[in-house]
Amino acid sequence: AQTAAAVTYLSADRLIDVENGRVIESPLVTIDGNRIVSVLPDATPPEGAIRLQGATLLPGLMDMHVHLTGSADQHGYRRLARTAVRSAITGVKNARTSLDAGFTTMRNLGAQGYADVALRDAINDGDVPGPRLFVSGPAIGITGGHCDNNLLTHEFDAKGGGVADGPWGVRAKVRENLKFGADLIKLCATGGVMSKGTEPGAQQLALEEMQAAVAEARNRGVIVAAHAHGTEGIKAAIRAGVNSVEHASFLDSEAIRLAKKHGTVLSMDIYVTEYILSEGEKAGILPESLEKERRVGSRQRESFREAVDAGVKMVFGSDAAVYPHGENPRQFSRMVEFGMTPLQALQAATINAAELLGQQENLGSIREGKLADIVAVPGNPLEDIGVMEKVQFVMKDGTVYKNDAVTF
Ligand code: ARG
Repeated sequence: AQTAAAVTYLSADRLIDVENGRVIESPLVTIDGNRIVSVLPDATPPEGAIRLQGATLLPGLMDMHVHLTGSADQHGYRRLARTAVRSAITGVKNARTSLDAGFTTMRNLGAQGYADVALRDAINDGDVPGPRLFVSGPAIGITGGHCDNNLLTHEFDAKGGGVADGPWGVRAKVRENLKFGADLIKLCATGGVMSKGTEPGAQQLALEEMQAAVAEARNRGVIVAAHAHGTEGIKAAIRAGVNSVEHASFLDSEAIRLAKKHGTVLSMDIYVTEYILSEGEKAGILPESLEKERRVGSRQRESFREAVDAGVKMVFGSDAAVYPHGENPRQFSRMVEFGMTPLQALQAATINAAELLGQQENLGSIREGKLADIVAVPGNPLEDIGVMEKVQFVMKDGTVYKNDAVTF
């Protein structure tokens, strides 16, 4: 990576202003250190400018649901052979891969042993390259739930790091996660696909437990994300006041109405089903998980379309780790296939995500005063969303990490 020069000039064929839904032709972006100082249309680039021919500039992409310390070759029982320390080192590799794919900000929703906190700090300290990370620490959920470790018999006494029961137990776990460096809280409101012995449709954390978690998080000024597939768990999470619902597979009209009323954001990982059903068996995914995916995936895509049609706030969340890191952008075309305009899909991965994180002053668009997180793709994603899989230029915090574009 090149270090940020005092002033950098960046020009391309066009720039997408995701906040106003406009295209700026022949833009010139001026960056001073790590901040954007101006964005001009129809500009002639000065001497020394980075000129990206045929390219579109976009705000750095933001994926609101990943597990950088997990990988797609560590499913089912294979996970038991991996320590949290080892997973942090995997995270170093996955952070670089994700940055190269265009993701300059990610929300990491669940890691054992605070490996995510260590990775975030190593990136912030400049030891390793990676996206800006907002991390949860161990995901909080009930004994035997989706976020517990249910693979072994009781003799082994295995237990997920985020297991808590009862409102006070959950409050204590929120406090513990914040003590050890979490930026936000992840709850498991229902069973899941990948966990052993849980039912995606069944609620797990009770309303009172989620209310306790949300109250504690609010006191501390952090946001809450809730994993929820089943309808009742989704509604309970929304009523408890979580900021985002992850997966949101079995929506009904009441759940959609509640999400709109409470301003709850949905983060729906609609690409991953294709990987699980085609590669999952080879990757060691449990047979019961494959069976559950067959019930969840197609229904989730219908829910996605209904939520988009109803105008629910959506962010881009991939659940990368279940499938290989760096393939996150494949979800853009599915988001368009299942109901979004290309602009809406780009907004989900930029400005909407910045708002969810409370970072709209710094992130989510290419605008004067914001941090210089900028990527480029060949061609125009508003005409062909598939180009999102070909990110050729990545700048984070004013530093260029990748430039495969044609420059002149
Ligand atoms: N982590 C999620 C779970 O285990 C993955 C769900 C993937 N399937 C889907 N259709 N989104 O529940």
